[in-house]
Amino acid sequence: MGLAYFEISGGKRLRGSVRVSGAKNAALPIMAASILCDGEVVLHDVPDVADVNFLAELLRKLGLDVERRPDRAMRLVVRDEMNCKAEYDIVRKMRASICVLGPLLAKRHRAQVALPGGCAIGDRPVDLHLRAMELLGADLELVGGDISAKAKQLVGTEMFLGGPFGSTVLGTANAMMAAVLAQGVTVIEMAACEPEVVDLANFLSACGANITGQGSPRLVIEGVKSLKGCEHRIIGDRIEAGTLMAAAAITNGELTLENCRLDHLMAYVDKLRAVGVQVERRDASTVQIASARRLEPVDVTTQPFPGMPTDLQAQIMALLCLADGNSIITEKVYPDRFMHVAELNRMGAHLRKEGPTVIVQGVKRLIGAPVMASDLRASAALVLAGLSARGVTRVSRVYHLDRGYERFEDKLRAVGAEIERKEED
Ligand code: EPU
Repeated sequence: MGLAYFEISGGKRLRGSVRVSGAKNAALPIMAASILCDGEVVLHDVPDVADVNFLAELLRKLGLDVERRPDRAMRLVVRDEMNCKAEYDIVRKMRASICVLGPLLAKRHRAQVALPGGCAIGDRPVDLHLRAMELLGADLELVGGDISAKAKQLVGTEMFLGGPFGSTVLGTANAMMAAVLAQGVTVIEMAACEPEVVDLANFLSACGANITGQGSPRLVIEGVKSLKGCEHRIIGDRIEAGTLMAAAAITNGELTLENCRLDHLMAYVDKLRAVGVQVERRDASTVQIASARRLEPVDVTTQPFPGMPTDLQAQIMALLCLADGNSIITEKVYPDRFMHVAELNRMGAHLRKEGPTVIVQGVKRLIGAPVMASDLRASAALVLAGLSARGVTRVSRVYHLDRGYERFEDKLRAVGAEIERKEED
């Protein structure tokens, strides 16, 4: 079987209603947190995406029964605690595998996790994850590219978890998952405030953990002896929602998004409104988007939550390609996350990269072309560009998109896009 690609005939206005899937980036650490639980965990609304399947495979190797149900529920139970090793084979496919480190160390007192290498969006070090484990009392050693960690009993402590680009999402998740079973109180300063971190804290609390401050930069965790299982619903995927908002805007369309919380997307929505897109809350989880004919340019700087998410930088760039004037986009989380720039230029965009900044000179239209996806969010930007372009766009390597979007082409087709998944010869 060849590699899949999308063929998109641009210029169709999107209209209708879409349900946003559960958040991949909330599901991953919560699945890993099941390692900590003595009882059964049932998660609802787990998206059917490649990254979730990679982690399920890793968790099975680590002795968990992971069962998927057709209604997007997932049941996880620890069966055997012997294996504590996350092999390079899986970690290299998915960096988020690093989030088994904290739970293994806290529950099984040892962990061996391959160090993830670089990836298409930059270096992505894990030094803060390792520092958090050391501060909690673990002994760490680098053995053949793996981090080998041991701790008879983790002990609560105060830690500052800021790096050169601010807070760390999975680093905070790892520290929190380790601290819930530590002896005494842990205070994490400069904790990530992302809704996915809050979802993890809520899950852990439902299992019996004692956590306060979630959603703020100061997390306080009082260790407990053990955690039970629980039933938990994963929050809606704010990045999928944001991508669909851009899809409505770039096609001059009108979409209603269900399972979408506006309070998870305020910085992005603020930018969309400045561009001229109408975004209105219908109720707590329903949002309506309609686009003005003329798009205004805006300047955008990515930041940790509640700032503008880096995971929507590529998508807003695709939209701003068609604005009436010049926009400046600055990446302050991953300064090298610009693989989509050259591909968008192949479609007639006028983008110029200067260090961590891209100057977007708006053009009247984009033109269909064969382009190549390089990472998850870059692929989404190319799909958006294809939806608006004149003619046919072929986006190859959509396996990048499949890592984080659940059957995205079906969702788009259901609201009027002309998009097909095909196999290369
Ligand atoms: N950083 C360090 N040291 C560390 C960890 C991070 O210097 O030990 C730096 C990173 O290099 C980066 C910044 O801190 O410059 C923030 O990275 P963070 O640790 O927050 O990223 P992450 O937790 O590895 C998650 C998401 C990413 C998303 C980022 C930022 C998951 C599974 N991944 O990664 O999602 O871009 O937070 O919001 O939750 C995606 O879904 O496409 C994706 C890449």
